[in-house]
Amino acid sequence: MGRDLKVEFGRINEDNIEQLRKVNLACFPVQYQESYYKDVQDSKGDGLCKFAYWNGFVVGAACARIEPLNKDDKNKGTDKDKTNDDNDNGADNKKQRIYIMTLGVLAAYRGRTIGAQLIQSILDHFENHMMDPELKNVVEITLHVQISNDDAIKFYTEKFGFEKGDIIENYYRRIDPPHCYKLFKKLR
Ligand code: ACO
Repeated sequence: MGRDLKVEFGRINEDNIEQLRKVNLACFPVQYQESYYKDVQDSKGDGLCKFAYWNGFVVGAACARIEPLNKDDKNKGTDKDKTNDDNDNGADNKKQRIYIMTLGVLAAYRGRTIGAQLIQSILDHFENHMMDPELKNVVEITLHVQISNDDAIKFYTEKFGFEKGDIIENYYRRIDPPHCYKLFKKLR
């Protein structure tokens, strides 16, 4: 298809993390905390965190992590504060989810399937490694998206079959509207 731009993937590490800051600055209205950049740098391989390269240049990035399934979805505030104080109780205690922290494609390259290739590669990573220790308890893939971000909501629900969860009010501190949806898709 003519509009497709086939990208290559590359891992994100301490040597190229500044590139990720640039992509995020260009793509998102919020700033991410240092804990997010640390999570990305610490992630193993390029299964969950990756750059998309076209013609040798970074044109987008996707960053996900594994976390408890019921990690609190309540108002966490923007800057995507990452807390590690999960106290999940009950039978779902061991279940986990892949949480998409960021997915961004530089504006000039949007609508050319790069976002889809990035998400598909995360889903493929899960399919290919679902019995590995890292992924064996993962049952869902999840993200939060600002309620006004129609492009991204359509992208996830129509192209990838994510379901729309409840509105989480005042999830973001510094952007208007401050509310988000949780989007999720069962993986097994
Ligand atoms: N031009 C054409 N189609 C667009 C455009 C655009 N500018 N923007 C969104 N779309 C829609 C279309 O419906 C299209 O579907 P189709 O293939 O059926 O026509 C689909 O989205 C495009 O799919 P891709 O080309 O694979 O997506 P793209 O590479 O444009 O990436 C993304 C989508 C990542 C949402 C991009 O628009 C972006 O970076 N937006 C800014 C950052 C953002 O909002 N990220 C998601 C926030 S949620 C989170 O990060 C967890």
